[in-house]
Amino acid sequence: MKRSLPQWSELRPLLNFDIPLGRPKTRRLAGAADLWDLRRIARRRTPKPAFDYVDGAAGAEHTYRRNRESFDDVELVPGVLAGHEHVDLSTRIAGGPSRLPMGIAPTGFTRFMHAEGEIGGVSAAAKAGIPFSLSTMGTRSIEEVAAAAPDARRWFQLYLWKDHDKSRDLVERAWAEGYDTLLVTVDTAVAGQRLRDVRNGMAIPPKLTPKTVLDASVRPEWWFNFLTTDSLKFASLSGTSHHLPSLINSMFDPTLSLDDLRWLRSAWPGQLFVKGVLSPDDALRCLDAGADGLVVSNHGGRQLDRSPVSLHALPAIRAAVGNDVELMLDSGVMSGADVAAALCAGADFVLLGRAYLYGLMAGGQAGVERALRLLADELRVTMALLGASSVADLGPEMLRLNWRDKNDVGPHPRRLHTHTA
Ligand code: FNR
Repeated sequence: MKRSLPQWSELRPLLNFDIPLGRPKTRRLAGAADLWDLRRIARRRTPKPAFDYVDGAAGAEHTYRRNRESFDDVELVPGVLAGHEHVDLSTRIAGGPSRLPMGIAPTGFTRFMHAEGEIGGVSAAAKAGIPFSLSTMGTRSIEEVAAAAPDARRWFQLYLWKDHDKSRDLVERAWAEGYDTLLVTVDTAVAGQRLRDVRNGMAIPPKLTPKTVLDASVRPEWWFNFLTTDSLKFASLSGTSHHLPSLINSMFDPTLSLDDLRWLRSAWPGQLFVKGVLSPDDALRCLDAGADGLVVSNHGGRQLDRSPVSLHALPAIRAAVGNDVELMLDSGVMSGADVAAALCAGADFVLLGRAYLYGLMAGGQAGVERALRLLADELRVTMALLGASSVADLGPEMLRLNWRDKNDVGPHPRRLHTHTA
């Protein structure tokens, strides 16, 4: 092998000793290549009880792990020579447009994760042109979120109240403030048992113990934000409590029934989706009681541990309800490829829970923007490689639920479900 010393003119173009410019947060977020990187940043920057409140799930977290495994096990079948120049990620859901086939799921206590909380979330959603769902247990009120992002498409999530008058008050306020869709969460008759929260002695607001003071010394930004912004509260509700499970148990009603859903249907003029359905029977019962659509969800594994995985429950529900009922899916979605898989399996739309909160914890609104950008880019690449030029092109023929099972021909042998664009 002939060797020679490199010339300076050859070396120079290879050197990159630029001093990185820009704010540390911008650089930190730009360095995240996927949602798992954002999760790692979030973990470093957020006190353990808050991070674990998001990251954890119910019981032994079987469903939480299976949610992820279900997406990891998917095989996507590429479509070659499809002849498309562009990929269009836009769609319509619940009677309105969305620039991406995904929206932000309702999450409670959001300012506990990051001081920008719901306002950061709705502002990022507005920029991305996707819906933002505000939780009943949000830490900014219905009115505050509407005022912060008047142009955002806003949905409201309702935990049906024991007292119908209180539910009515909430949904009337939401409707008056321009929230166009109600997500009625039905998988929380009682609070799931979140063991990480028990072990962390999780409390709202956090108690100042020697452990939290130590934690503050390595996460100064979170603590500075927390201590210099207004105190955490369930902003749409009055009163608060220090112990989460007892609060939920006192607020929600295990005796709720389809009659309550029928009542709510008569009280809400907008679109109504029931969130937390995992079986064809329940899907049909909810539609019969007046729901416009459903969210196939196991609450991110946070309620009934060992409940079915959404991605696997979806095809049978799609087959039962037919093609005209809109189905959203959540639980476990962490990439654009996961979104594509859910749409191929029969969903019209996907909700992002933790994927959004990891971004928020990693960098407030800018972190959510980064998360949405990553998801959109991943989805665009996945669709291009699948040979799909629009959301409507995604179908079960592009998907096998289990790559190990060579007899698996996808959720349906033929295409059952057509998206309306
Ligand atoms: C939630 N979720 C939830 N759902 C709901 O209907 N009302 C709520 O107040 C909350 N709160 C909440 C807090 C936190 C920290 C998380 C992580 C989740 C459930 C949420 O809407 C969604 O169903 C799941 O998060 C979906 O699973 P992934 O995307 O987190 O895996």
